[in-house]
Amino acid sequence: MTITYFGHSCFLIEAGGKRLLTDPFVSGNPIAEKVDVHSIRCDYILITHAHVDHIADVETVMSNNPEAMIVGIWEVHDHYSKKGFRTHPMNKGGWWSFDFGRLKMVNAVHSSSFPDGAYGGEPAGFVVDAADGALYIAGDTALTLDMQLIPLTCPPLTAAILPIGSNFTMDARDAAIASQFIQCKRIIGCHYDTFGFLKIDHDAAKAAFVEKGAELLLPNIGESVRLG
Ligand code: NI
Ligand code: MN
Repeated sequence: MTITYFGHSCFLIEAGGKRLLTDPFVSGNPIAEKVDVHSIRCDYILITHAHVDHIADVETVMSNNPEAMIVGIWEVHDHYSKKGFRTHPMNKGGWWSFDFGRLKMVNAVHSSSFPDGAYGGEPAGFVVDAADGALYIAGDTALTLDMQLIPLTCPPLTAAILPIGSNFTMDARDAAIASQFIQCKRIIGCHYDTFGFLKIDHDAAKAAFVEKGAELLLPNIGESVRLG
């Protein structure tokens, strides 16, 4: 499994021989200027929720990847399927098998609406279960006891992508506790540094994880991490 960071909560996950893009927000990201959104090639777009900093580039990426499929909660599927895009609806607790492996949609504690105010369903996270590893993508969320259900219901995690920027989501200290709840020691941080109120101290964030016996990876934008 290889994971490339495109800034904020946007990652390209190469798993099970396919390319899964999460929460595309590149063209409006002030610190991701060097990423060309038009160069992104993917087979799936996983959308955790409908806030603009998670969907801004969905339609651009889909126009460049017409065979790709959007996966999201029912209301996100409904929004994009009515626009003519290929979609697969899910909801919390469910698994579905795709050609790269399985996906489970899991809980996230946050809010969700489209930029025009339309209801976006509820926010969610995903667990990717592929032959080359299992990955938890938390989405925007607070620390929640529901995370303890993941090791009870999913294969052992190879890694997890957790938000650490505080203000809108959990901070690094809470995310370090989350790493214990999900029983995963290899964490990739997201949802930090993008805007002024998400700026974090990288060393302090990494130290919070070391204190809990875990490792926080903060790849540079454009950098890839190979796992498994
Ligand atoms: Ni959000
Ligand atoms: Mn967000």
